[in-house]
Amino acid sequence: MDKKRYAHSLRVEETAVSLAKHYGVDQKKTRLAALLHDLGRVLDHTLSHSVLSAKMAREQFGVKDKEVLSAITKHTLGGKNMSLLEKIIYIADHAEPKRSHPEAAQIRALAYLDLDAAVCEAAGAAIKHLINTKQKIHTLTVETRNTYLK
Ligand SMILES: [Fe+2]
Ligand SMILES: [Fe+2]
Repeated sequence: MDKKRYAHSLRVEETAVSLAKHYGVDQKKTRLAALLHDLGRVLDHTLSHSVLSAKMAREQFGVKDKEVLSAITKHTLGGKNMSLLEKIIYIADHAEPKRSHPEAAQIRALAYLDLDAAVCEAAGAAIKHLINTKQKIHTLTVETRNTYLK
């Protein structure tokens, strides 16, 4: 993994572990999911790198924990019925301190008050960015936003 991606993974770890402490989520699982979430980026720069990351975590790092693998798989697009760990990894990836979009700081703060609202805001920020940069929006991102919109 290149330096930039490694540094990002460490920031995701720090952000996620802090949220895990707040919500009483297993810190070891959180660390594992955060550190390995972008493994697949080495080979795949598309949205499916998250699926590849989970496969590599399983095959190369011997990670068997389904909750950890699922949090890695869902870190880019989210989904319906997300577990606490999945939400934490999703938010940490989308709003770690060096994320440049203007909503990142607000999303991190919101995450301590309302995890679902933070997931919704993170998906919304991703959608805005995709529109502004004229990129396609994956339907799962829309579904994630709609699911957690109150
Ligand atoms: Fe990623
Ligand atoms: Fe990431």
